[in-house]
Amino acid sequence: MAQIPQPNDGTSFAAKPTAEADLGSTRGNGAPAESDRNSLTVGADGPILLHDVHFIEQMAHFNRERVPERNVHAKGSGAFGVFETTEDVSAYTKAALFQPGATTEMLARFSTVAGEQGSPDTWRDPRGFALKFYTTEGNYDLVGNNTPIFFIRDTMKFPHFIRSQKRRGGSGLRDNNMQWDFWTLNPESAHQVTYLMGDRGIPKTYRHMNGYGSHTYLWINEAGDKHWVKYHFHSNQGVEGLTGEEADRIAGQDADFHRRDLYDAIERGEFPSWTLSVQLMPYEDAKTYRINPFDLTKIWPHSDYPLVKVGTMTLNRNPDNFFAEIEQAAFAPSSVVPGIGFSPDKMLLGRTFAYADTQRYRIGTNHHQLPVNRPRAVAQHNTYLLDGSMAYEHSGDAPVYAPNSFGRGYSDETGTVTDGWETDGEMVRQAYTLRAEDDDWSQAGTLVREVWNDAQREEFVNNVAGHLLGGVKGDVLERAFEYWKNVDAECGKRIEELVRAGLGQPNPGTETEAAQANASAPIVESDTH
Ligand code: HEM
Repeated sequence: MAQIPQPNDGTSFAAKPTAEADLGSTRGNGAPAESDRNSLTVGADGPILLHDVHFIEQMAHFNRERVPERNVHAKGSGAFGVFETTEDVSAYTKAALFQPGATTEMLARFSTVAGEQGSPDTWRDPRGFALKFYTTEGNYDLVGNNTPIFFIRDTMKFPHFIRSQKRRGGSGLRDNNMQWDFWTLNPESAHQVTYLMGDRGIPKTYRHMNGYGSHTYLWINEAGDKHWVKYHFHSNQGVEGLTGEEADRIAGQDADFHRRDLYDAIERGEFPSWTLSVQLMPYEDAKTYRINPFDLTKIWPHSDYPLVKVGTMTLNRNPDNFFAEIEQAAFAPSSVVPGIGFSPDKMLLGRTFAYADTQRYRIGTNHHQLPVNRPRAVAQHNTYLLDGSMAYEHSGDAPVYAPNSFGRGYSDETGTVTDGWETDGEMVRQAYTLRAEDDDWSQAGTLVREVWNDAQREEFVNNVAGHLLGGVKGDVLERAFEYWKNVDAECGKRIEELVRAGLGQPNPGTETEAAQANASAPIVESDTH
C-alpha cells in the first residue's frame, strides 16, 4: 500500500539577494510603489481616488493574472532534465538529439486529462507525458501519454470524446453515464478503457509510470532510409499503481499528491529517470502488416517489433517559477526536427494543428518567444513570425520579407520536402481500411487474458463494476455489459453479475444465479470519477 504523506506546510521562498539593500517594492515602470497596504483616499473614511495609479495597476494586473487553463490536461506538474543518447541508432534517424553520446536539455510535464487545474492528482484518468527537447536543430516536442494507445482513431471525434469526460451543460457535473455512453457507442475505445480500468489506471506517482509516444512516427536516417517508430519510456523507478480505494483516500487528503511527490523527490536529489526504447518497423512493412500500424487504438506486438534501446531521460531540476515555466509551457506535436516525421495516423495529423493553435489563444501569439518555449539551443532563430501581441524577440532592422537582397536567411527555391510517405486515392470519410487482424476487441482481450494475472483481472473487474455503479443506467448500462463481453466473455459476465448485484437487480439467467451473485459479491470500490 502506498504511503500517504501529510500535506506539508509550504516551502520557504527563495532568499532575497544579499548584495543589495532591499529598496522596497516598485511599480511596473520601476518607480517606487507608494504603499502596498493602503489605497489613496480622501480622508481616512473617504472614497478611493482614480489617480492612485499604483492601486489601479495592482487591480488591473491582478484581474489579468491567469491565462486560460489548458482545455485538456489542465492539472499537471513539470521538471527540467537531460536526455542522453547512450546507444547508436544513427542507422534509423539523423536527428541530432539521437546521435550517439548526445546530451540534450529537456522539460517534462505530466498531467491528468479531464480534471481542471485544482482537481485531485489521483482521479482515474490517463496521464499526460509531454516532453520538450531543446535540440540544436530546434525544439522537439513528444507529447504522449502513460498508455501506448488511445480511445479513438480519428481526430474528428476528439472534442466529443473530451466533452463526454468533462461536465454536463446543465448541472455542471461529471457524469459516468455520459462517459459510458460515448465509450460504448465507440467500440474502438475498448483497448484504452481496459487499460484505464486495470492496475495501471492510476499511477502511484508520476515517477512510477511509463510514458509512450503512442502514435507511430517516422524516422529518417542520413541516407534517407525510413522506418516507422513507436517510443517507449520505461520508468527506472518501476511501475506501480494505486488501487481505486487508495486513490480516493489520497484525493481527499492531498489533491496535489503527485505534484508534491515529483517536486519533493527532485529537491531531495532523487532524480527520476526513464529508459527510452523504440520499436522500429521498416517503411515497406507497413503496407502489408496484419494490423494497421497507424491506428492509435492498437499496439505493435513486441514479438513482431522488439524494443531497441536509445538512451535515458533524467529529471533533475524543479521549475523556479511554476507559472512561467510549467503553466506557460507549450508542447506541440507539430514541433518536429530533421530526422523525425509524422505518419498517416489521423489522430497525429489532427494534433499537428490543434496544439500550436490553442497555444496562440491560451498563452499568446508569440508564446514561442517565452524563455521556456524558445529554441534555446539553435545557432540562429531566423523566423519570419513577426510582430503580434507581446512580440519580444527581434533582430533589429533585418529584412521583414522574403526573398530579399539583404542577407537574411531564406530557404532555397524548392525547399526541403517534409519527410513523408506516398499516398493516392479518392477523397473519403471513413476509418482506416481494415486489415486481417483489425478489430476493436482482440487486443483488449489479449491484455485481459494473456498479459494480466488473476489478481489483475480481479482488480479490473471490480474497477469497472465500481465505475458502472456510479450512475450508469438503462440502455447505456446494457451496452456496457455487451462491450465487456466482447472484450472477454468471462470478465464481462462477472462485471454484469457484480453490477446487477450492486443495483439489487436479478441477473438475466436464473433467480438462483442472481441470489448467489448477490450473496457472494465482493465489496465494490467506490470509484465514480
Ligand atoms: C494537451 C488536443 C489527442 C496528449 C492538449 C491540448 C489540446 C489537445 C488542445 C491543450 C494544449 C495546451 O493548451 O497547451 C488534442 C487533440 C487530440 C489529442 C485535438 C486528438 C487527436 C492526444 C493524444 C495524446 C495527447 C492521442 C497522447 C498520446 C496530450 C498531452 C497534453 C495535451 C500530454 C498536455 C501537454 C502539456 O503538458 O502541456 N491536447 N489532443 N493528446 N494532449 Fe492532446
